[in-house]
Amino acid sequence: MRTPFVVGNWKLHKNIAESLALVTDLKNQLAAVKGVQVGVAPVFTALHSVAKRLEGTHIATCAQDAYWEATGAYTGEVSAPLIADAGAAWAIVGHSERRQFFGDTSDHVGKKACSVLRAGLGAIVCIGEHLAERDAGRTLAVIDEQLAEAIADVAATKVDLASKLVIAYEPVWAIGTGRTATPAQAQEVHAHIRRRLAEKLGPPIAEAVRIQYGGSVKPSNAEALIAEPDIDGALVGGASLDAADFIAIVKAARTST
Ligand code: 13P
Repeated sequence: MRTPFVVGNWKLHKNIAESLALVTDLKNQLAAVKGVQVGVAPVFTALHSVAKRLEGTHIATCAQDAYWEATGAYTGEVSAPLIADAGAAWAIVGHSERRQFFGDTSDHVGKKACSVLRAGLGAIVCIGEHLAERDAGRTLAVIDEQLAEAIADVAATKVDLASKLVIAYEPVWAIGTGRTATPAQAQEVHAHIRRRLAEKLGPPIAEAVRIQYGGSVKPSNAEALIAEPDIDGALVGGASLDAADFIAIVKAARTST
């Protein structure tokens, strides 16, 4: 059985004080909640403070991105070893907003995923189609292209991919729009991703890798989504900024398995 994994992606929200206030709430209210793994992804400037505040809890600190070179003349970038140094345990790579606004390509995402895994962090690799691609019947083809490049070299890192690799399916048309994929739409893509993982990484790893759904996840729809057999948690944007909503989603993930 895969333990569901629910991560709050705070995007460009919350300063250090606001981040600490939210994680303190989460820490207190989720202390007794078992059967689900939880993570939060604050902005870089709050990463270390949040990781410190979460020390000794079951809530993981995640970065929202990671550059693939460890050090060097790369002004403005933050590398995976430095993210680990700040106390985080995971990094998200390939988010559609990175692809859309900052030029991340699937090739970059593949390099980032490897650097994250090599630094001893878990990698949450995001993939997902645009609305025009879905309408053109290209959803699974787009998923195949993005996934193939993103995980092309992960096996060479020799880390335990079963526990360290997570795929997040985030249909771009569902992000921040209030328009969620139906459980059946999401399950179809998740099952497809797992079949491709089996071909590329072998069935035992494919069975163990968590595949999160992301895109307008809320307390009202989380349970039905995560009840699907291949949906193993959620990557939550807007609803993760509110403690009560995020906690409700975490509890829904626990009860629906
Ligand atoms: P929303 O939950 O705000 O739609 O964002 C989803 C997302 O992009 C999480 O990474």
